[in-house]
Amino acid sequence: MITIVGAGKVGSSAAFNILGRRISDVVLIDVVENVAVGEALDMMQAAPAIEFDGKIKGTSDFSEMKGSELVIVTAGLARQPGMSRIDLVNKNAKIVKSVVKEVVKYAPDCKLMIVTNPVDVMTHVAYKESGFERNRVFGMGNILDTLRFRSYLAMELGVSREDIRALVIGEHGDSMVPLVNFASVSGIPVSTLLRKEQIDKIVGLTKTSGADVIKLKGSTIYAPAAVIAIMADAVLRDRNRVMSVSTYLQGEYGLSNVSIGVPCVLGKNGVERILELKLDSEAKRAFEESASIIKDAITKMDETV
Ligand code: NAI
Repeated sequence: MITIVGAGKVGSSAAFNILGRRISDVVLIDVVENVAVGEALDMMQAAPAIEFDGKIKGTSDFSEMKGSELVIVTAGLARQPGMSRIDLVNKNAKIVKSVVKEVVKYAPDCKLMIVTNPVDVMTHVAYKESGFERNRVFGMGNILDTLRFRSYLAMELGVSREDIRALVIGEHGDSMVPLVNFASVSGIPVSTLLRKEQIDKIVGLTKTSGADVIKLKGSTIYAPAAVIAIMADAVLRDRNRVMSVSTYLQGEYGLSNVSIGVPCVLGKNGVERILELKLDSEAKRAFEESASIIKDAITKMDETV
């Protein structure tokens, strides 16, 4: 069973994706009970059309998460147009801490996936607050960035999105690092197919892609929800998928005491392994700069929360 805490736009849409892909039953929890109950009812009524039999329950009772294999946290404020994800730090840290307390109480053996932004800082907060082993606490951010990177590369190349392989690491935020040297079309390096100006444009679009959607319609929903379902599938079905997720580093990449996006093997225990890449000097510098931005936000937050 999966519990999603936060039945807002992202949480409810993720629940619907998980049910529709027949990954698991879902409990949807929100402090606003009517919202969670109403979303669940709406999804249940769609089941015959989408053809899923999974159970969905909406509630504000946190004890309903008992027995969950995976708890996904999407509770918290979302950024408004013009805001950066980091601007949400203090308010969302309080919410995430309070949710994690409930998780420790009712689902102490679960894997804990954080979605609330700024996701790397919130993953760090959740890891510290939970006391769980680090493999069980991870954040969703860079896979979404990677999907966006892949989509823009496919558009520019005029090829199927499916054939693009790519990787984004670092902060799920303005300092993210799309790794051009690791991007390929069915194994063909994109750097051999595109000019530098084209690649620079795509990297720029990838970095602003979330803000671009928020500017137009206020929030991002479908892409994050789809990514949450992919990660849930990797854990529930023990698929050992290789994905860039936010995880707490203890010496990997020469960094410690920071949660940041790096490629990992994601399976039934959460982060089964962290994969260390050999980065070129430019990517290494950008990745370390990204880590220092997250660390800075963590330090500033500690003073106020
Ligand atoms: P939303 O405002 O639609 O939903 C948030 C929900 O959280 C609301 O229903 C609210 O009642 C609930 N909530 C607040 N405090 C709670 C608590 N203590 N316990 C349970 N529920 C609580 O926001 P939306 O658009 O769904 O975004 C949710 C979060 O996800 C935001 O922080 C947003 O920035 C983040 N996000 C992260 C992404 C990522 O890639 N990591 C992508 C998209 C959004």
